[in-house]
Amino acid sequence: MATKYKKRLSKAAFFKSLGYAPHPGQQEIHESKARFRVVACGVRWGKTRAAAMEALAAAMQPAERTIGWVVAPTYDLADRVFSQVAILAASHLLHHIVTLTESERRLVLRNMGGGLSEIRAKSADSPVSLLGEGLDFVIVDEAAQLRPKIWEGYLSQRLLDKNGWALLISTPNGKGWFYEMFRRGQGKDPEYQSWNSPTWKSPLHKKERIDAERMRIPDKLFRQMYGAEFIEGSGVVFRYVSEAARAQFQDPKPNTAYFAGLDLAKVEDFTVLVIMNRAREVVYVDRFQRVDWSTQIVRIKAACDRFNHAEILVDSTGIGDPILEALRHAGCLAQGYAFTQKTKADLINNLALMLEQKIIVLPDPKICPELIEELEVYQYSITDNDNTRTGAPSGYHDDCVIALGLAAWTLRDRFQPMMVATIPPMFFGPDGQY
Ligand SMILES: Nc1ncnc2c1ncn2[C@@H]1O[C@H](COP(=O)(O)OP(=O)(O)OP(=O)(O)O)[C@@H](O)[C@H]1O
Ligand SMILES: [Mg+2]
Repeated sequence: MATKYKKRLSKAAFFKSLGYAPHPGQQEIHESKARFRVVACGVRWGKTRAAAMEALAAAMQPAERTIGWVVAPTYDLADRVFSQVAILAASHLLHHIVTLTESERRLVLRNMGGGLSEIRAKSADSPVSLLGEGLDFVIVDEAAQLRPKIWEGYLSQRLLDKNGWALLISTPNGKGWFYEMFRRGQGKDPEYQSWNSPTWKSPLHKKERIDAERMRIPDKLFRQMYGAEFIEGSGVVFRYVSEAARAQFQDPKPNTAYFAGLDLAKVEDFTVLVIMNRAREVVYVDRFQRVDWSTQIVRIKAACDRFNHAEILVDSTGIGDPILEALRHAGCLAQGYAFTQKTKADLINNLALMLEQKIIVLPDPKICPELIEELEVYQYSITDNDNTRTGAPSGYHDDCVIALGLAAWTLRDRFQPMMVATIPPMFFGPDGQY
């Protein structure tokens, strides 16, 4: 390696030149030499700022050529990090900028050794964009909100070729993959280091403001958001999804009973039909964007007829009621399931339990990616009145989850009458509600 690349940038001096004075919590992260740094901290702690600064410092290190990504769970968040990086570069490092393409979220800098360093911001919304090159570093902002498979399936692999490093920084969100990474950082592995720091440890905020928030929002939520606690019971609802997702679709077999769950498209989502057999294997899924109702009925009936006149359980709330009638009129064996807070909770709990007990077989993600993804991201959150509610995170659908839940409900009803009694209590809010 040429000597010009051997020199190391002094981060402290570099940050000073950018007018950035890290607070003590940020300072510890910037000073750490661990290859994997995992930071669980409260909201408004200074996460995005620290992430942007790390990206710039990494890019200015003398090297012949480097590339690093700044990843966030959504386009909006990725933009937020990238615009910080871009503004800082434009205001303090103008003569180092080789290319700045905001639309591609791509910045190329001439680093302190005269080599070229590229920073790209990526949204984990679109895993396809996470394929490709080997990276020198990856920085993830709001990492706990990333879909579980993004780290293992896409990001960590990018670091292998170049022995790259990672900084994962986030407010906790239940005990998912980010928590596991955090725990590794608390163990003996010298490659991992982790920190846990509440908002009030950051000097950026006044105690009174934080206390006012403490009064305003539910205790659990406050502890998670501001206290940066990993709280069980928020986060993903369905576990063991990838283990269950291993089968092919099946053709109908003679003398076999089949059970269908049907979720009807409301305004802009999908109609989904899931058919299962008695062994709780999903044998068929049909998912289609809203077409007119009579066409939908013909399509649903054809599928159920093919599966030995499968019984259908359909969400009969709202538009579902007349459709239920129309399905019956067409000769389908259809029953309604009226959704209330309580019945929806029962449905989701039953499905969660079946997955927990590993008694359900789902299609391989290659066959039905939407179903698997919807199950994996379906989450708990804590409402303003301190109840727990479940649903798809914004930007996701839940129609596959509901259709599967309905099919699984019939099977529970028919063959497992005792199951609901064993639901783990963590699935319920304080008054048994969602
Ligand atoms: N060391 C610092 N010195 C001065 N201001 C800072 C510092 N770190 C962060 N800030 C400012 O504090 C505010 C919050 O920082 P930042 O957006 O990085 O926090 P965050 O933890 O990402 O917040 P959120 O939880 O909203 O994503 C921003 O206005 C940022 O510019
Ligand atoms: Mg932020």
